[in-house]
Amino acid sequence: MKICFAQNSPNYACTLQAMTFHQPSDTDAAYFQSILTESRVLIDEAAIERCASDHTEDFFFPPKLVLQPTTASEVSEILRYCNTHNIPVTARGAGTGLSGGALPVLGGVVLDMRRMNRILVLDTQNFQVVVEPGVITEELQNAVKEVGLYYPPDPASKGSCFIGGNIAENSGGPKALKYGVVKDYVLNLEIVLADGTIMWTGANVLKNSTGYNLTQLVVGSEGTLAIVTKIVLRLIPAPQHDLLLLVPFRSAIEACRAVNEIFLAGHTPSALEFMERDALLWSMRFMQHQSVQIPDDIAAHLLIEVDGNHPEQLMQEIESIAGIVAAFDIDEPLFAESQEQKNALWALRRKVGEAVKSNSVYKEEDTVVPRAKLPELLSCVKEIGAQFGFQSVCYGHAGDGNLHVNIIRGALSEQVWKENLPIAIRKIFQEVVRMGGTISGEHGIGLVQKEFLDIAFTQGQIELMRSIKNIFDPKGILNPGKIFQ
Ligand code: LAC
Ligand code: ZN
Repeated sequence: MKICFAQNSPNYACTLQAMTFHQPSDTDAAYFQSILTESRVLIDEAAIERCASDHTEDFFFPPKLVLQPTTASEVSEILRYCNTHNIPVTARGAGTGLSGGALPVLGGVVLDMRRMNRILVLDTQNFQVVVEPGVITEELQNAVKEVGLYYPPDPASKGSCFIGGNIAENSGGPKALKYGVVKDYVLNLEIVLADGTIMWTGANVLKNSTGYNLTQLVVGSEGTLAIVTKIVLRLIPAPQHDLLLLVPFRSAIEACRAVNEIFLAGHTPSALEFMERDALLWSMRFMQHQSVQIPDDIAAHLLIEVDGNHPEQLMQEIESIAGIVAAFDIDEPLFAESQEQKNALWALRRKVGEAVKSNSVYKEEDTVVPRAKLPELLSCVKEIGAQFGFQSVCYGHAGDGNLHVNIIRGALSEQVWKENLPIAIRKIFQEVVRMGGTISGEHGIGLVQKEFLDIAFTQGQIELMRSIKNIFDPKGILNPGKIFQ
């Protein structure tokens, strides 16, 4: 069922802000048509509905208009106009976000970036690529792979998400533990400010200690500071080989303990993913793919990948890792013998999020703690779950200490879901921060986590961020209702 929040919904939208904004009229639409032509100003129900939701829970916030720019100049003209007329502007990639970053909660226009989808320059001399924000992440990875290069950050939705959205949320994915997250690959950005000014944030260089780092300020700013229209990414040589091992554990906490032992022994896997029993089971059911037998006493799995250029070394490394996990209470590990088997295991892992969503209404939390605290985090989530009577399915990037906690609605009453759950989530987040972690590792704050921002930051820190927002976007037209309460 789709839930439509009114623009002054006490839950999420800021009433005061909504009142100061102007919703685009026919005159405004006519202006946009004059710069974009009619075919790129969409008001049909299908386009409005498509841009009313993303992959976050079951929200539905219809914009008034959907605009599809193709150049930075068009973005500039749109923003200049919206800034003058106080029209909210929410940029949208593929809509795969999990914190509601792309939801136009205060109406206005959606900047649908799908037509800015070109790979502009592939610089094989300097290992760099210049792309537009609407390029699908996996297509980018495939294009650079053809020339032996590698762009590692690969969110679970890599087959459909856009690089622009990845930059907005500073996405991570399974390779982050060895290769870093999106921010570690962004060298320079062409941005458009709220008043229509077009500028570059930095330079196309690997080192840069020249002034404030505007590039990294924009990365992860969720479309609240500027609209990104070109992206310069650094690339690395593609590793030639990889090996994959799926290890079943009889205790989920033990699986989390094993994670750190692997690092302490000197290994840096290229992926180290944790899945509770139900995460893998539900994914297999969702994909109708019973490729893994899960005995009744198995509580969780670790999916462990190593990569590099020397097959014998990799084999030694995976054997050594297998030896480390064998000291725990495990069943027989599954070693992927073929590329097909690797692909099948990765597909199961990547589909966990969708599988959970298809199973029940849920809330997803993107907790992250220093890696060695992962067992403590998992037990804390389960204890708070028992206290508040909710079930959770946890999985995620264990090598980063990044645990996706999916709280399942199941048979919980409306009252428990709406009133008790925020209290429980607050408790989880407080524990996370106490452990030295924070409330989002890779999904962003967006709409759904903003009520918890005070747990991660002091009022002074939040005010400093607000001041930065005000300098970039004094009228607050860019993605209003996000990050801050
Ligand atoms: C994943 C998404 C939810 O790791 O971040 O599957
Ligand atoms: Zn993830």
